[in-house]
Amino acid sequence: MKKILVTRKLIKENSIRIKKIFDVRLNDDDRLFSSEELLRDSKGCDGILTFTTTSLNKELIMSLSNSVKIISNYAVGFGNIDIDAANKRGIIITNTPDVLTDATADISILLLLGASRRAFEGRKAAETQNWKWSSDYLIGKQMTGKKLGILGMGRIGRAVAKRARGFDMEIHYHNRTRLSPDLEHRAIYHEDINDLFKNSEFLSINCPGSKSTENLINEKTLKKFPDGVVIANAARGEVIDDEAMIKAMKNGKVFALGLDVYRGEPKINEKYLELNNLFLLPHLGSATIKTRLSMGNRAIDNLDNFLNKNINPMDRVN
Ligand code: GLV
Repeated sequence: MKKILVTRKLIKENSIRIKKIFDVRLNDDDRLFSSEELLRDSKGCDGILTFTTTSLNKELIMSLSNSVKIISNYAVGFGNIDIDAANKRGIIITNTPDVLTDATADISILLLLGASRRAFEGRKAAETQNWKWSSDYLIGKQMTGKKLGILGMGRIGRAVAKRARGFDMEIHYHNRTRLSPDLEHRAIYHEDINDLFKNSEFLSINCPGSKSTENLINEKTLKKFPDGVVIANAARGEVIDDEAMIKAMKNGKVFALGLDVYRGEPKINEKYLELNNLFLLPHLGSATIKTRLSMGNRAIDNLDNFLNKNINPMDRVN
C-alpha cells in the first residue's frame, strides 16, 4: 500500500475511506505541525494530504523526501503551496474545486447581507436587550435592484451571481478573461478593474489569492467605488489592504464590510474589531458536512487516481 501523511484531522467518513486504500498517518489530534515535524513525518510517504492552514513554502518543498510525488490540498485555493518549488521537484499539486462552490457562494451572500443589514450591531443590541424598535432604528442598505460587482468570475463568482439575481441585482464583473455568453448570463464585463469598482454599489470578492491579486483593494482603488459601498470577502484576506480598508470604513466611503478570510489568519487585525460596521466569520466558506465530506473525497480521489490507478489526477493545478 502507498503511504500518505494527512496534516490535519479529516471528517470521520473520510478517515475511514483513506485508511482502506492507503497506509496512512492521520492527525486525529489535529495538531498544527511545525515544518520540522512535517518533514519528519512525511519521510517515506508517497503523498501528502494537506490543508490551507499548513504552509508548504519553498524551503519546505525543497527539503521534502524524494518519495513524495503528490500533494493533495483540501481546498480550492492553493496559495499555501509554493507551486514553482513543486514544479522544480516534479511534485504534482491538486486542489478540490467544484464541490465547495455552492457553500462558499452562500457565505458570500451571507456576508453581503450581514454587512449591509447591520447584523453585528443588531446582534449586540438584541443580546444586551438594549434596543427599542423605531422607524429609523439600525437602518441598513438594501441589496434589491443594486449593482453588484463580482471580482473573480470563476465557479464561485458565477454561483454568487446566480444567487444575486434572486435579489434583482445588476451583475458586473471583472475576470482575467471575459466569459462566454452562456456563462455570463448577461452580466456586464469590465476589462478594466477600476471600471468594475466604479460600478459596484456592492462588491463580492471571489478571486484566487495570489501575488497578482494581493492588495487589489487599496487606498487608491477604494476611491473609485461609489460612496457607501458594501464589500464582502470570502476569497483570501490578502486581497484587501487592511489599513486602507479600516480608514475607508471609518470615513464612510465603505458603509460596511463582511469578512470570512483574513491576512495572517487565524489572527485578525485588531483595528477591525473596534468597528461596528463589520460582519465577520471565522473562515466558514466551505463549512458544511456535505461540502467537507466532498472535499475530503475529492482530495482522496486525486491521490488514489495518481498513486493507485496510475491516472492523471483530475484536479492537477501544476
Ligand atoms: C478555502 O478557503 C478553500 O480555498 O477551499
